[in-house]
Amino acid sequence: MVKNIVSWIDERIPMTATYNRHVGKYATPTNFNFWYFFGSLAMLVLVNQLLTGIWLTMNYVPTAEGAFASIEYIMRDVEYGWLLRYMHSTGASAFFVVIYLHMFRGLIYGSYQKPRELLWLFGMLIFLVLMAEAFMGYLLPWGQMSYWGAQVIISLFGAIPFIGDDLTLWIRGDFVVSGATLNRFFALHVIALPLVLVVLVFLHLIALHEVGSNNPDGIEIKQNKDENGWPKDGIPFHPYYTVKDILGVAGFLIVFCYVLFFMPEGGGYFLEKPNFEAANPMKTPEHIAPVWYFTPFYAILRAIPDKLAGVIGMGLAIAVLFVLPWLDRCKVKSIRYRSTVHKLNITQFAVSFVVLGYLGAVAATPVLTIVARIFTVTYFGFFLFLFIYSKNEKTKPVPERLTH
Ligand code: HEM
Repeated sequence: MVKNIVSWIDERIPMTATYNRHVGKYATPTNFNFWYFFGSLAMLVLVNQLLTGIWLTMNYVPTAEGAFASIEYIMRDVEYGWLLRYMHSTGASAFFVVIYLHMFRGLIYGSYQKPRELLWLFGMLIFLVLMAEAFMGYLLPWGQMSYWGAQVIISLFGAIPFIGDDLTLWIRGDFVVSGATLNRFFALHVIALPLVLVVLVFLHLIALHEVGSNNPDGIEIKQNKDENGWPKDGIPFHPYYTVKDILGVAGFLIVFCYVLFFMPEGGGYFLEKPNFEAANPMKTPEHIAPVWYFTPFYAILRAIPDKLAGVIGMGLAIAVLFVLPWLDRCKVKSIRYRSTVHKLNITQFAVSFVVLGYLGAVAATPVLTIVARIFTVTYFGFFLFLFIYSKNEKTKPVPERLTH
């Protein structure tokens, strides 16, 4: 009977063929390691955000008068409301942890290089939308940091010549951040951007399956096939990687649940302390800082003295990642077979990113501002050096077949 139902469906939509193409007979490199957990984990966190978000919306009130109190109501009176809320707020931080590690994997194994440029571009679009999604979500609890964080970031658009003032007015829908801003951020956060995200993730996966996965050796397994046309270094995605990904999910859930149940505020990094106070347009918090996942870019903004130049610098820090596939001109993908210069450059980039993240989270002092300037230079230096040395880079010989 099951067979009959399946063939009835298959005659109408290509269900089995699609399953085989993308799961059952999708050839995956045999040597995936720890770094390859984060794609499936990103999907898991996305689903977590969508589901908990829907349930939060059932009790959340998107008005300046009601928002803060409705969050308190969810936390105290709604059955398991505290769990839903913490799964969502901790989930946002988990999303960025997972995404940064996912992107770093792409960086070290050259997964952005030909033929995966479009896959990378879809990834970067996801990253951009994810940042907008997180920024708008943070306004919704209508706490002090929600309010003032939004005030600071939206006012940055005011630095743009000619249209700046009109643009900030247009974004806020008012002369200051107000209920009108909250309403539109709510609409974008719960409907528009999640839809865009889901579509982009779909395109990301289509692009991935068209060219096939890269791997820690950076070798194209499709170039080495057996007599049946199956890659010699490939194994079907299911059951091999479905099972392996369960291990990643288990490891992730252990850490995630620990944070969720024992430190849901993440020491003030996941939910900042001033946000436990309702938004007060008459009282500016002593120290305004965005949530940790924005701080590397925020540090670049603050490091540049001129406001407009700072905004441009911050924008460029993200924009330059879009063109990474064309900045790296080396034919070898994986860091395993690339030069020491490249290894050092990637290491310094990672260090710069983390240090900038720290500097963006603490109050600026004259000394720290100088440190932030140095690391802003090294951040951009990564891309400049890469462009210069990658053309004639001294690489190691890449093996014919995957190594384990
Ligand atoms: C919601 C966010 C995202 C989801 C759900 C997602 C999902 C996935 C999945 C399931 C894979 C295949 C498994 C794996 O290789 O780990 C993958 C691969 C990949 N993703 Fe993402 N991704 C997301 C965001 C991003 C971002 C922001 C970037 C970079 C800008 C990116 C770049 C890549 C690249 C380059 C690959 C291929 C890696 C390789 O084959 O070595 N992704 N993604």
